[in-house]
Amino acid sequence: MTATERPAEPGKGERLSGWLDGRLGTRTLGAKYLRKVFPDHWSFLLGEICLYSFVVLILTGVWLTLFFHPSMNEVTYHGSYTPLNGVRMSEAYASTLDISFDVRGGLLIRQLHHWSALVFVAAMLTHMMRHFFTGSFRKPREVNWLFGWLLLFLGLFEGLFGYSLPDDLLSGTGLRFVYGATLSVPIVGTYLALFLFGGEFPGHDIVARFYSLHILVIPGIMAALVVAHLILVVYHKHTQFAGPGKTERNVVGTPFFPVYLAKAGGFFFLVFGALTLIAAVASINPVWSYGPYRADQVSTGAQPDWYLGFAEGLVRVMPGWEVTLWGHTLILGVLIPVVIFPLLLVFIGVYPFLEARFTKDRREHHLLDRPRNRPVRTAIGASWISLYLILLAGGGNDIVATRLHLSINTVTWAVRIGMFVVPAVVFVVTRRICLGLQLRDRELVLHGRETGVIKRLPHGEYVEVHQPLDQARLHTLTAHERPGELVEHARVSLDPPRRTPSGSERSSS
Ligand code: HEM
Ligand code: HEM
Repeated sequence: MTATERPAEPGKGERLSGWLDGRLGTRTLGAKYLRKVFPDHWSFLLGEICLYSFVVLILTGVWLTLFFHPSMNEVTYHGSYTPLNGVRMSEAYASTLDISFDVRGGLLIRQLHHWSALVFVAAMLTHMMRHFFTGSFRKPREVNWLFGWLLLFLGLFEGLFGYSLPDDLLSGTGLRFVYGATLSVPIVGTYLALFLFGGEFPGHDIVARFYSLHILVIPGIMAALVVAHLILVVYHKHTQFAGPGKTERNVVGTPFFPVYLAKAGGFFFLVFGALTLIAAVASINPVWSYGPYRADQVSTGAQPDWYLGFAEGLVRVMPGWEVTLWGHTLILGVLIPVVIFPLLLVFIGVYPFLEARFTKDRREHHLLDRPRNRPVRTAIGASWISLYLILLAGGGNDIVATRLHLSINTVTWAVRIGMFVVPAVVFVVTRRICLGLQLRDRELVLHGRETGVIKRLPHGEYVEVHQPLDQARLHTLTAHERPGELVEHARVSLDPPRRTPSGSERSSS
């Protein structure tokens, strides 16, 4: 540039970016975080499905608040759904019918909200199990695991409060259960139940109270936790699966901008679109066919949403025990399930701390485990899932009995026995499968892949030709600590059998 040339005027965009940088430090932030690396693995999409379905829940939830009336005052229905014309019902139920039949697009948004809730919890459970099986919860990510776990715990209750709002016969039956469970709390149960419901069941307050919790308190806490969860993901950097060039100290993948942002943006619309498609074609919670809630009625086949089915199962299969101590009646038939239900979740929440304690492994880990290389952890995870599923079947014992033409007592007893036996069997079988897979990996590393080509050697022996694995695969299969369990097992089964030398060999040596 000569002395007479003046520097080119910055463009509008550059000036705006300078203005923002001067006030918010955006350039420094961008320089630091826009190049943040994201590993490329399909399982990372599970966290995104949680995030996007949560966003859809908030968007549709805010829309629903415009039309929903959280009130248990009685009104007479005169809307477009003629079978219920002239029926007395709560304002909450009447407004849910209005959303479904009289508000334009209302049914679609209601169904979208409900389907997103189902997918949201399913995505959280799957995301959690993927982190469980791959050990990403180890130091330094234990706190982030707890944040995630809290999100799951709150999500379950958020769903319960949500489907209690319309005050239809099904949701009222769920509320009746909540009332019964509260009553079973020793000593203070009756007081607690009256306090929560504002009087004898059903009272006049519960819908309004659940409404405040559902639209304000819990989503607020959850949104804050999601932000903290994601900040910690950025702070700790991503974990990654072992592979060539991947170490405990680096992250291999694509940068946030532009690659990841484009992919994530596209994936958001894919999730949103898929949820909308489901909501458009698949009916969910058709409250008009259940009718308004009446305390003297209960519908058959009353189930909670799937994610709380395991809690329902615990109650259904528990014998109706009752004891009287010092003048107080303890309803053990309800109290024990009510205590076990959170404990099942708490076990998975504190698992990282239990594992660190038992394995005495307090090192940092940024490379993920292959589940087979941690047979005990994998077996614990599989048996936890099996218990969850068995109890879920117990929660639908009436449906299972009618669909399979069985007696309900048979199903209940099968679940009672199964909840102890199946997780134990699953534990043993999963652990053996993991050890078997480890041995197969070892075979592959030592002897290569079977090619299916059989060769005859000059002296007549037949051998199968093996092809050594490529370096990348060899690296992936061997980039883990050799667990003690396998070494013990392998010594027995893989070491070549000791041969007694023949007479000629002995003489030649
Ligand atoms: C994790 C987040 C959430 C979950 C799991 C969830 C779940 C649910 C469920 C299952 C229902 C019953 C829907 C039905 O009628 O079939 C519901 C209803 C409702 N939700 Fe949510 N929700 C969430 C967040 C929100 C938010 C953030 C808002 C508002 C800001 C909201 C507002 C509502 C309203 C107004 C209803 C009653 C309307 C109706 O039932 O049609 N929800 N929610
Ligand atoms: C609203 C619910 C949740 C959202 C939006 C969410 C979102 C995410 C996202 C986007 C990531 C980064 C990508 C990935 O590793 O998959 C992540 C990482 C993580 N999540 Fe979640 N998550 C949620 C719930 C949970 C739950 C229920 C758990 C377990 C109990 C959990 C545990 C973790 C852990 C340990 C990481 C760090 C993994 C790493 O650094 O590689 N999250 N989460």
